[in-house]
Amino acid sequence: MDIEIYLKEKRELIDSYLESYFNVPSEPRLLHEAMKYSLFAGGKRIRPILALASYEACGGRANDIIPYAAALELIHTYSLIHDDLPAMDNDDLRRGKPTSHKVFGEAIAILAGDALLTEAFSMLSNDRIQDTGFKIQDNDASRIMHHASSLKNSSLITHHSILRVICEVSMAAGTHGMVAGQVQDILSENSKPDRDTLAFIHLHKTAALITASVRIGPILANSDEDALMALTKYGENIGLAFQIVDDILNIEGNTEELGKPAGSDEKMKKMTYPALFGTEKSRQKAEDLISNAIDVLKVFSSEAEPLREIARYLIKRSV
Ligand code: IPE
Ligand code: IPE
Ligand code: MG
Ligand code: MG
Repeated sequence: MDIEIYLKEKRELIDSYLESYFNVPSEPRLLHEAMKYSLFAGGKRIRPILALASYEACGGRANDIIPYAAALELIHTYSLIHDDLPAMDNDDLRRGKPTSHKVFGEAIAILAGDALLTEAFSMLSNDRIQDTGFKIQDNDASRIMHHASSLKNSSLITHHSILRVICEVSMAAGTHGMVAGQVQDILSENSKPDRDTLAFIHLHKTAALITASVRIGPILANSDEDALMALTKYGENIGLAFQIVDDILNIEGNTEELGKPAGSDEKMKKMTYPALFGTEKSRQKAEDLISNAIDVLKVFSSEAEPLREIARYLIKRSV
């Protein structure tokens, strides 16, 4: 299989859903503009793609779970807007464009992040709004109908598994996941790197949401425990590798290609894998993690080939 084509096709699936979802403007327009500005600045969509690929590995059809996969991108994009704020990493460039706070000011950037995070949970849950007879406002109707129609053919998906997904994603993004990692990342600036703190930061700030993205597939497909466990291990391994590669690219990549400032970790005295182990050892660690990830997929056959190829792509990526 050609992984570049696979990634492109899946990215287009996610992008067309997001485009139609955000096609309905909301007031104030400035908030809506700020949300769209960051969301459509050109991310890789790797978390949604992982959700689609893991659902396919469990026998599902990617088209049936697009809203659940797309919601992950809203959470990820919010985390980037907040990560770039002056009070956090203080970066001016993201996805090749000026960061949200540079364009809209800090207040609107913070609020656009808040809105994306909250909207993600609306996207994950709003088919149940109709069941409970919740009153839908006119200007929201087409958005919700769009969501409902995209779920029409998804025979495998139950409300119970949707609830599990919501729990999963909120745990991964919040106090016990990404936010915990982000806090430890900030608290650890200027400190001498140590193995345990570093593992905590990377497993929480990055691997948690990536693992949740992968777990969504087997949860929505009602897969057995073995499949869920294998995919969890896959997610943890590629999640940690993903952040180690991000650390290496911050040193070896260039700002133009990355679309975000190279060299910023060194400047901010961030606790990173290269800071503790050097780049060569860090790369070896990332490669070992990717091999582990591919290894745990042996319980699957050819239907997990895209997941294997995504793991190989993540270590080779230059963006
Ligand atoms: C960047 O994530 C932030 C990290 C968690 C390392 P991505 O590399 O997935 O960023 P985009 O979405 O493609 O811009
Ligand atoms: C980003 O970590 C993690 C989250 C946004 C949750 P970094 O701060 O290392 O990522 P970049 O390099 O700014 O994308
Ligand atoms: Mg950061
Ligand atoms: Mg950052």
